[in-house]
Amino acid sequence: MVTIHMGLALLIVAMLLYAVDRAQAQDEPVVAIRHQIAATNGLKAVLWIGIIVTFGQIVLGTQVREQVDIVSAAANYANRASWVAQLGSSFTTHRAFSIAVTVLVLYTVYELWSLGPYLRRLAQGMVAMLVLEVLAGLVLAYGALPPAVQPVHLTLATILFGLQFLGLLAVGRLGVKPEIGVPTRSAHGVVA
Ligand code: HEM
Repeated sequence: MVTIHMGLALLIVAMLLYAVDRAQAQDEPVVAIRHQIAATNGLKAVLWIGIIVTFGQIVLGTQVREQVDIVSAAANYANRASWVAQLGSSFTTHRAFSIAVTVLVLYTVYELWSLGPYLRRLAQGMVAMLVLEVLAGLVLAYGALPPAVQPVHLTLATILFGLQFLGLLAVGRLGVKPEIGVPTRSAHGVVA
């Protein structure tokens, strides 16, 4: 149930970001047409894969959380330090999957870095969220699930997902060749 709830919440996050992005889309100071075309070829696919993998990791995380709820209730909410050891495969899969998330996010960051100030800022945000997210995960796993870190881990994951989605929208715009400077047919007529 938590998993479905989280999946729908992420969908709403993506829809809201899409609406804001459409409303605010301004012409990015892009570096060069050559760069723009190179960017859209493979980068959109990389961003899509990254978003899907992060989404999958968040779904896995909510399954870990459901398991935490079961284990903690069975232990009568006592002996917190022993809960993680009882989590089973959902936790080990989630932990291992963070390697895939890390590789994809770092590759995305590498690709976005030279594509103008806006995409570089998004890339910086992605690195920051990834580092903090993994640190929070390690603190949860090896520090007996401190309650304050639980919502932090969830929030950072959601922000990372949002930044990746904004990156996809911005890269999509790079593929649209700017019409600025190209006179329209009617403008030609006026000049002539
Ligand atoms: C790399 C990206 C990661 C993402 C996007 C991510 C995401 C999530 C999410 C969304 C949850 C559910 C939180 C909740 O429902 O309250 C979760 C739970 C959890 N994650 Fe991660 N995680 C990541 C990495 C890690 C790592 C590296 C570890 C540990 C080595 C870890 C350990 C845990 C633990 C122990 C929980 C259960 C926490 C709880 O009880 O709330 N995570 N994760």
